[in-house]
Amino acid sequence: MNQFSFQKRTKTCGELRKEYINEIVILNGWVHSVRNFGSIYFIDIRDRYGITQAVVDSNETPNLVEKAKSLRSEFVITVTGLLRLRENPNKTIPTGEVEVEVTDLHIVNESKALPFEISDFATATEETKLRLRYLDLRRPSIQQNFIIRNTVYQIVHSYFAEQNFIEFETPILTKSTPEGARDYLVPSRVQKGKFYALPQSPQLYKQILMISGYDRYMQIVKCFRDEDLRADRQPEFTQIDVEMSFIDESDIQRLTEQLIIRLWKEIRGITIEPNFPKLTYKEAYERFGSDKPDLRFALEIRTISDLLTNTGFSVFDSVIEAKGSIASITVENGATFSRKEIDELTETVKKHGAKGLSWIKVTEDGINSPLEKVLGAEKLQQICSELTVAVGSIVFIVADTYDVTYKSLGALRLHLAHKTGIYATIENTFHFSWVVDFPLLEFSEEDNRWVARHHPFTSPKADQIETLKSAPQEALARAYDLVINGYEVAGGSIRIHKNELQQTMFSLLGISPEEAEAKFGFLLEALQYGAPPHGGIAFGLDRLVMLLCGTTNIRDVVAFPKTTAGISLMDGAPSEVDNAQLKELSITKTI
Ligand code: AMO
Repeated sequence: MNQFSFQKRTKTCGELRKEYINEIVILNGWVHSVRNFGSIYFIDIRDRYGITQAVVDSNETPNLVEKAKSLRSEFVITVTGLLRLRENPNKTIPTGEVEVEVTDLHIVNESKALPFEISDFATATEETKLRLRYLDLRRPSIQQNFIIRNTVYQIVHSYFAEQNFIEFETPILTKSTPEGARDYLVPSRVQKGKFYALPQSPQLYKQILMISGYDRYMQIVKCFRDEDLRADRQPEFTQIDVEMSFIDESDIQRLTEQLIIRLWKEIRGITIEPNFPKLTYKEAYERFGSDKPDLRFALEIRTISDLLTNTGFSVFDSVIEAKGSIASITVENGATFSRKEIDELTETVKKHGAKGLSWIKVTEDGINSPLEKVLGAEKLQQICSELTVAVGSIVFIVADTYDVTYKSLGALRLHLAHKTGIYATIENTFHFSWVVDFPLLEFSEEDNRWVARHHPFTSPKADQIETLKSAPQEALARAYDLVINGYEVAGGSIRIHKNELQQTMFSLLGISPEEAEAKFGFLLEALQYGAPPHGGIAFGLDRLVMLLCGTTNIRDVVAFPKTTAGISLMDGAPSEVDNAQLKELSITKTI
């Protein structure tokens, strides 16, 4: 054999069991570890299917001792040998009852000394692991994530194919129509000074396909958004994108639920009941301080503005006068929180804009609260009995604008769930719900205009179309989000399918008819040629896989992820380009 040849495997490192005893097998793989006990070398050989123990016994094969001695972690090897029962079975791995008695050992390729172990417990920094991503991707637990991701692709494709959906590929070089996040732009060489945009989603293409009569569309598709990154966000991510004609909300929701049921059954072996609970946006916000509430635990927010109207306490009175909200969260057994702990919780609400955090402790000795001197003991008693607060509890209160009160209490709720150990008790449990009745619009202080909460193609509720112009703040959208364990996993809506309503919508958003024509003229025109009623949804595939894999970091399920600064550490994207390349694109460097 020369240094480029090797013997092909007859088995993988994950499949050997008792029934193959006495067979001669050939394995290809990586040296996971080598242990030497005097005259015997135990080599764990690994591939993506598993790990098998191979044994070189210097008494039996003295010619292999030098090779066995030279093995280091991650060398690529081929072992040939007879399969036999292990004297000391390893019950923690599926191949643990057998081992290969090595008769031939070949080093196919060497490896430099590793900067970190191929293990979940490696201590290297995240930066080093991302730079050497190919090594981190060798970890069996992360390989499992990509095997699950692959199963998701298979299930999704067969699920939609069974129901007559057609998969389309929509363009990646598209027209820039920023509404929402910023676009990634690609300069055109031929059309000097013009740019394509990478799609934030195939939204308009899928609507156009409905107008073309393909009433059931799906696509597993890459989307690109230049936005601030977080643990559950990547600048390029994958959607399962879906659109249907002649349907309403209930059809999309049923279709979505059945897919989720199938994924959880086939991948996690968990049976989920259909008809996921529905919460209105208002309820979600006022009870859990979020439009994507984690409903695996209670710790509900209670609004107590009515109880605290006209108390004579200027802080509360001014909030009520300004139409803000006063709301609370009660923590059972929280009366033991120290001053320092309460300060730390106060910081949490302050980060979300609240000016402060009031509290009432209910102990065996009575009520204890800094509010006592401004509200009086009787009022505090009244609050506690209204909230049915048990002895030993603490009530936290925020009084602020509507948004700040619920947002900051929502953040406090999550913080408290960590602090009191609730999260530890709900690991590996799932809660599925729909959030519906979103406001159609929200006012952007930055742009001083209304912007679409979902996107400008979402239909208002039918009974609100008349009053859309006079009371835009009250309009609700025919939009729905699927929320799992506090993550927005999918979002969709019923679309506007009439040209006039789409124009009204643009004008509400402060988009002039000229601008609407320039940006969305093709849609407005298409809507005039027999557009069917239609709607759809898009799942964040990465988030879905993340939940199925039981991780909270999207990077664990994306093969080559970007850092929160948008950098791909392995290949160094984004990178500088030559001046010649820029010149060809008619781009001049200004920095
Ligand atoms: P939306 O913007 O809600 O809707 O996106 C759909 C789903 O995509 C996921 N998602 C992301 N995942 C990872 N990183 C990101 N940066 C990121 N941004 C979004 C979320 C989200 O629920 N065209 C509409 C869908 C429709 O109306 O049919 C759309 O894109 O899980």
